[in-house]
Amino acid sequence: MATIELEAASVAAPGADGDTVILEPTTLRLTEQRIGLIGANGSGKSTLVRLVNGLVTPTSGRVLVDGLDVARDGAAVRRRVGFCFTDPAAQLVMPTCVEDVELSLRRSVRDAGERHRQALAVLDRFGLGAQATLSVHSLSGGQRQLLALAGVLATDPSILVADEPTTLLDLANTRRVTETLFTLPQQLVVVTHDLDLARRCDRVLVVEDARVRFDGPAEAAVADYLSTVPL
Ligand SMILES: Nc1ncnc2c1ncn2[C@@H]1O[C@H](COP(=O)(O)OP(=O)(O)OP(=O)(O)O)[C@@H](O)[C@H]1O
Ligand SMILES: [Mg+2]
Repeated sequence: MATIELEAASVAAPGADGDTVILEPTTLRLTEQRIGLIGANGSGKSTLVRLVNGLVTPTSGRVLVDGLDVARDGAAVRRRVGFCFTDPAAQLVMPTCVEDVELSLRRSVRDAGERHRQALAVLDRFGLGAQATLSVHSLSGGQRQLLALAGVLATDPSILVADEPTTLLDLANTRRVTETLFTLPQQLVVVTHDLDLARRCDRVLVVEDARVRFDGPAEAAVADYLSTVPL
């Protein structure tokens, strides 16, 4: 497994009356295969996981992925860390499914014919072989989320960060995407409001008011989060 380290990493945003703290100084060493983050809206979950691939830069402290400093070795870190957004529209940019996966492969596979063959193989693996030449707009929400995942995983990252990958999906597609996520060999860092999904993780962080309020086994973490929510 990969190792993600936060060393007193904090995030602040400058405002009119001083800085707003978005993440208090946080120290973590994440080595488990499946790590979940849960917590209220606006608590800081997306900010924390965005530190892992440099989408957000720490205001103080450091973030390391396999010993590489995200701020200094950004390109190398981004090759290791795939990031999947809640809304697949944020990352599906090409007209057809196969072209979208080819775009992901443009750096790693130079030959266009080989790139096309590999993209088709990736689509097959995600059950989207029949949709290869269709417009991404003709896919269902679940298929679009799978395509976004396929594009990210095509580059074979060692870590997949997924920020609420099932939030927009119905029950069947939630199950399908969840099964895909939990059969990956990669390290998974997943932000979710789906407590059943969180319960399947090896370690779960509960984020509240810009800090990690609980860090431990999934069941205990879910119980901790539930205890903070009034009936
Ligand atoms: N660049 C920024 N400038 C100012 N405030 C920000 C910035 N980025 C995030 N915030 C604020 O920081 C807080 C935490 O945001 P974040 O997106 O990390 O929350 P979250 O836990 O992912 O919430 P949700 O469950 O709604 O996705 C929010 O109040 C948000 O408005
Ligand atoms: Mg979020």
